[in-house]
Parts: sequence; C-alpha cells; structure tokens
Amino acid sequence: MRNDSSHGLFITFEGGDSCGKTTQIELIRQWLTSVGIDPVVTREPGGTPLGNKIRQLILHGPDDIDARCEALLYAADRAYHIATKVRPALADGRIVVQDRYLDSSVAYQGTARALGANEIRDLSLWATNNLLPDVTLLLDIDPAVARARRTRELDRLEREPLEFHSRIREQYLALADANSDRFHVIDASATPDQIHTRVKAILDPLVRPYLSDLKRED
Ligand code: TYD
Repeated sequence: MRNDSSHGLFITFEGGDSCGKTTQIELIRQWLTSVGIDPVVTREPGGTPLGNKIRQLILHGPDDIDARCEALLYAADRAYHIATKVRPALADGRIVVQDRYLDSSVAYQGTARALGANEIRDLSLWATNNLLPDVTLLLDIDPAVARARRTRELDRLEREPLEFHSRIREQYLALADANSDRFHVIDASATPDQIHTRVKAILDPLVRPYLSDLKRED
C-alpha cells in the first residue's frame, strides 16, 4: 500500500536513540536544497503544533503513562501529522523527509513494550489510512555505543535499560529483513560523512525524477 494516490516521495529515517538521524537528515536537507529541491522535513512525534503538545506528554509526562496509553499517543500524533501535513505535501508532489514513522512504533511499543508488533503496525496503518514510506533508511548501531554518544539529559524512553534498546534494534533489523523492498540498513557506527555518502547513494536514483524541471547535478 504505497502512497499511490500521490506523486511525492516519502522518505523515513529510523533507528535507536542517538543513532545520528538528526545529523543525517540535516545533511540530506542541505543536499536536496543544493540541487534545487525544497523538501518537507518533519518528524514524529511532534511534526505539528498539536503533535508537539503530544510529544511533551509522551516524553516528559507522568511516569504512570502505561504502554497502551503511550502507543495511542504516538498513534494520535501520527494520524494528525499524516492527514494534515504529510499527505497534502505528497499530493503536491513534494519530497517528505521524516524522522521516525510507524516502524518506530512497531519496534518501541510493539516489541520493546511487548504490545505485539502486528497489533501496533495495524494501529498505525489504521491511524494513517495505510500510508507506507517509499523508502526507509535504518541507521543501525549497538545501543551501548549510541548511549555513550549522549550528552544531554535523558528523556523517559532513553532512561530505559540497555536491554530495552537491544530489543528495539533486533526488531528494526527483523523489519528490514521482512520489508526489503523499502528498507536499507546503514551501519551508523561509521563517520557522519561516510553515512551521508551511503544515504545519498541510496536516495539519488529516487530523487532524480524530481529534478526534471530543476537544475541537475550532472
Ligand atoms: P526524540 O527526541 O525525537 O528521539 P530521536 O532523536 O531518537 O528520534 O524522541 C522520540 C522518542 O520517541 C524516541 O525515544 C523514540 C520514541 N518513539 C516511540 O517510542 N514510538 C514512536 O512511534 C515514535 C515515533 C517514537
């Protein structure tokens, strides 16, 4: 169920906490802008003003938010974000670069919180009326290495033990295996430049058709 009602390109970045997504998304934004494309760069949770309120609740809300409540808050953020921002952009033929999407819910809530990968995937598909990404870049890294990179204060999910984050990594890799048509696994222990080169090589052929009316790199 691709976004075949539109002509845009839906790119998602996934990975465990502190895998380096933010840096890579910024580099991709700069690259797309340099070739004349104006991408919509967004994130979950929190890609909209309503979503930002939900994000605060999830990441800094009370400790008694249970797993089901957490899953529904992510799904509510996602439903609104996709309906009001992402689908309209794709319908306009835009390239959307998104930090986290339904695979995050499958890995974090479905597996790490043990709510069931299939149930959580179905919840997200229901919330978004079945929108899947065209391409998903998984930045894969050992959670212990990622944790050592962190400098700021940890949020509610980051405070979970390493074992929680290892389950997330395993589920992401299983998702990549099962959905090899859209997933690309990238070794996120490499340098930011090396990772960027790899991400760009994957995205270049997909982005090319959007350059037709714009300046081409070559
Ligand atoms: P954020 O600060 O955006 O983390 P990151 O930079 O690693 O993406 O916080 C988002 C947190 O929410 C992160 O720990 C992953 C988690 N998350 C879920 O558990 N389920 C979801 O569906 C999404 C989108 C995020």
